[in-house]
Parts: sequence; structure tokens; C-alpha cells
Amino acid sequence: MTPGSMILGTGHYVPEKVLTNAYFEKIVDTTDQWIVERTGIHERRIKAPGQNTSDLCVPAAREAIEDAGLTPTDLDLIIVGTVTGDMKFPATSIFIQSKLGAHQAAAMDISAACSGFVYGLALADSLVRSGGYKHVLVIGTETLSLMTNWKDRNTCVLFGDGAGAAVVSPSDGERGILSTYIGSDGRLAELLCCPGGGTAAPPSRETLENGSFYLKMAGREVFLHAVKAMSDSALNALQQAGTTSSDIDLLIPHQANIRIMDATAKRLGIPREKVYINIDRYGNTSSASIPIALNEARRQGVLQPGMTCLMVVFGGGFTWAAAVVKF
Ligand code: ACO
Repeated sequence: MTPGSMILGTGHYVPEKVLTNAYFEKIVDTTDQWIVERTGIHERRIKAPGQNTSDLCVPAAREAIEDAGLTPTDLDLIIVGTVTGDMKFPATSIFIQSKLGAHQAAAMDISAACSGFVYGLALADSLVRSGGYKHVLVIGTETLSLMTNWKDRNTCVLFGDGAGAAVVSPSDGERGILSTYIGSDGRLAELLCCPGGGTAAPPSRETLENGSFYLKMAGREVFLHAVKAMSDSALNALQQAGTTSSDIDLLIPHQANIRIMDATAKRLGIPREKVYINIDRYGNTSSASIPIALNEARRQGVLQPGMTCLMVVFGGGFTWAAAVVKF
């Protein structure tokens, strides 16, 4: 293995409050059966009032830093993938830096919707490879519950809140990030977006009343693009790593919809038993979904030392990304 970077530690946090499908049966015209059959979701976690996005990240980050055998002051950089940060600015990573006491670290956010964590991983990998950075904390986090229209059955049943983290450090020669791949297509931006709050639709009584601050999604179109973009991204990352899907021990797909995950795995020829799935418990946590799944898979022993893992994601933008990592 050439000198490069590796994932040295992982962590995650999900809020305590659980919303089951039965809750949505009471507030919109839906059923547990529809949600389970069409998405695979049984329940999701929702942040507590007063709990900020950065508050979800701190326990996830602490677990990852401790798992890496480091302390917060060892970090050179904090990268946070999120579209639901604490404030419009400064970046959410800034608040996390302060709460962790990671005073040696620079901090910045990436806006790539669900792909934010893997985009961050790709950036951390190249910065560590360059020799300029040693320990980079990458976080994927989202509190989409605040961007959800709780009266829209098409979207409100889908999302959950959470955070996941990984520390990227120089490779020890045994483990390593073998490849990363990122892509986007801005021509499709309006199929999945939150139009309000920026220069296009600034905060006003009108934009508040017409629902501009809620997430909008053309579900069927997103579904079709997601399967193709995720399988194409995975194939690109596999090719760059000089490997094939038959060498993959665990596929961690973005947990957006069980049918998207199954279709992607099928295209890649990866059997269900090698696919990590937790959408039933957390719903779609956007950029947090891959790092939450990654940490769970490691803690449960599903992803063991020596195994090779393929992560692949798709999200608003559209954006997509994949990474092949040996643990
Ligand atoms: N309960 C009951 N019926 C519903 C619900 C619900 N919660 N939501 C939608 N329906 C209805 C629709 O109104 C529609 O009814 P109609 O035929 O009378 O118009 C019917 O169910 C079928 O709607 P479809 O959109 O065709 O349903 P589909 O099978 O595509 O499932 C879903 C919808 C789950 C949203 C799916 O399209 C999906 O998962 N899309 C991708 C979402 C995704 O991957 N997002 C990724 C990124 S998220 C991010 O970046 C933040």
C-alpha cells in the first residue's frame, strides 16, 4: 500500500427522542405499512428543543477522537458536512472546535447535502496525503427535522437527526483510504433543495408563508438518479482502488431508502448480507447516515480489521461520492 491516509477512529451520536411510524399515522394521511414498504423506515431520532446541530456532533467527535487514541488538541482540521448548521455563519465546525477545545485546528463546513461526509473524507484524504495535515476530524451531521414540512406526507416520514464522525490520519501501511470519488450535476439542483433563506428567496413574510424554508423533493426523479449515480460512483471508486465489488467485505450505502440500497447493491453484484442497513432505526439522516452506519458496523464487529468497505452516497445538488477503505 502506498503512503496515504487511514480512518483511525470513528464515533456517532443520535438524539434520544424516537418517533415511530405510528406518530405519523396521527399527523398525516399515511400508514406504517406504506412507510415500511416504500422506504424501510420504522422509526427515526429527532433532536430535543434547544439542542443545536453542533451539540449532536460533540459526543460523536469525542468518541472518534478517543477511538483514535488522540485528544482534541491533536486535531489540525475539522471538516463538517452539513446543510442544517447552527447559524448561517460562522460555520458549524467553528462551534464544534470551540466545544471540543480543539484550539490547534482550523475549521470549515462543506455544503454537499447527503454527500457531505464522503466529500469531507475525500478532502481529508488528499490533505493528509499532501503531508500538510496530520489528524483531520470529518463529521457528517444533520437536523433535517427543522427543515421538514410536518404536514407534507411525501417528505416528513423520511428524515431523522444525527451525527457521525471519523478521524483521518496518516496510514500505518496496513489500513488505508484506497480511493475516493466525488461528483455533482447542478442542472438538477431544483429536484431536491431548500429554496428559502438565501439570496434567491431571502427571509420575508412571503417566503415564510409560502413554505420556502422547507425541503422540497421530487421523490421519484431523485430515486431514479440516486440508483444510477450511486452505482456509477462506486464503480469509479473501485476502479481507482484497483479492486472490484467481489473484494468488498461491507457496502455502506447512504441510508435514504431500502429500495435504493437494494437496487444499488444489485447493480454492483454485492449480496444483501454484505450491505449494512440501519435505515429502519434512523430514517434518512442525510450526511450523518454513512458515518453513523460506519461506527455501528465497527462497534458491532460487522466491519473488522482487515476488511475492505465501500461507502457510497447521493444527495441534493445533485451530488454523489464513494470511498473504498481498508480497516
Ligand atoms: N404515505 C402514504 N402515501 C404517500 C406517502 C406517505 N408518507 N408519501 C407519498 N405518498 C403517495 C404519493 O402521494 C403518491 O400518491 P399518488 O400516486 O396518488 O400521487 C404515491 O404515494 C406514490 O408516490 P411515489 O412518489 O411514486 O412513491 P415512491 O414509491 O417513489 O416513494 C419516496 C416515495 C419514498 C419518497 C421515494 O421516491 C424515495 O425514496 N425517493 C428518494 C428519496 C431520496 O433518496 N432522497 C435522497 C436524498 S435526501 C437529501 O439529500 C437531503
